[in-house]
Amino acid sequence: MSKPRLLVTGATGLLGSALVREGRAGHDVQGWARQPHTVALPCRIEAVDLLDEAAVSCAVEAAPPDIVIHSAALTSVDRCESDPSAATAANVGATQHLLKALRGHACRFLFISTDAVFDGMRGGYTEEDAPTPLNVYGQTKLGAEQAILADRPEALVIRTAFYGWNVLPKESLGEWALGRLRAGETVPGFTDLFFSPLLADHLARLLLTLAGTNSAGILHLASADGCSKFDFAVRLAAVFGFPPGRIVPSLSGAGRLAAARPRNVTLNAGRAAAILGRPLPTIEEGLREFLRLELIVKQASLAGASGHGGGR
Ligand SMILES: NC(=O)c1ccc[n+]([C@@H]2O[C@H](COP(=O)([O-])OP(=O)(O)OC[C@H]3O[C@@H](n4cnc5c(N)ncnc54)[C@H](OP(=O)(O)O)[C@@H]3O)[C@@H](O)[C@H]2O)c1
Repeated sequence: MSKPRLLVTGATGLLGSALVREGRAGHDVQGWARQPHTVALPCRIEAVDLLDEAAVSCAVEAAPPDIVIHSAALTSVDRCESDPSAATAANVGATQHLLKALRGHACRFLFISTDAVFDGMRGGYTEEDAPTPLNVYGQTKLGAEQAILADRPEALVIRTAFYGWNVLPKESLGEWALGRLRAGETVPGFTDLFFSPLLADHLARLLLTLAGTNSAGILHLASADGCSKFDFAVRLAAVFGFPPGRIVPSLSGAGRLAAARPRNVTLNAGRAAAILGRPLPTIEEGLREFLRLELIVKQASLAGASGHGGGR
């Protein structure tokens, strides 16, 4: 029997690349990115600009997917704030193009949304809490959620936060903190921002499991415990063998950034745990896997760079 065809949009991104890594065993994976990349990923990557409605439609018709995980977005919170039209086009318009192209195709559709749909006034948010985003990024992700559930009520909208190993030359929070520790520097850790991040690879495995269920609507996927960004950096330092004293407590000074940051966006993932029949990973479990995966991800990139990867 042939494997189900999995389409990952944003396949070169932090989460998309983890989805490609984790999904290839059980799926025929097709990855899309906006532009051609030379990164080594173990699947075909096609350059499909989601802003180009005709290109999206052609690409879907050429290879209709059984499962879509829509992970592509304009993810820079400050860029979204300074260019709201680009944010709306990339996060809402592009999603509408994909929905339109998939109309008439019976496929499972999962969308990656964000904890930033909440204002962060109290944390511990459940799926029943009303979203009130503080910044343009959160507003456009909420707009995409609404467009998806209006068009495909059977879709699954995942609100989450994550860190991990990038294949593109950019840094997630964990990579940035680790880079500073390895360079012998201190790391400012925000004591006033709270979240519940998953490791991207843990999140990818959960998404692939959920793709095989018929759960629909909004679902929170988050670490079983939440913490401040300061505590996260302290725990990361401990797991990687650095003195926790190198993490310096500091305040986010959110007012200096272009976009307002919600203070406490910890998510309650109880509904997901009930669907999955097991608790979600803790922050400690995520960081231990982050440590274990470093060599594996880097070796795969090196192999790809020397021509042995499965990239394009
Ligand atoms: N990172 C987080 O902590 C976090 C937290 C909550 C939710 N999310 C959500 O999770 C998803 C993945 O985030 P990420 O951090 O993994 O993303 P990322 O690393 O910033 O990568 C974004 C991906 O989207 C693609 N993309 C952007 N614009 C596109 C367009 N017009 N057409 C086609 N592809 C386009 C990019 O392709 P190119 O490289 O070719 O431009 C890239 O593959 C996003 O939906 C984001 O909103 C992220």
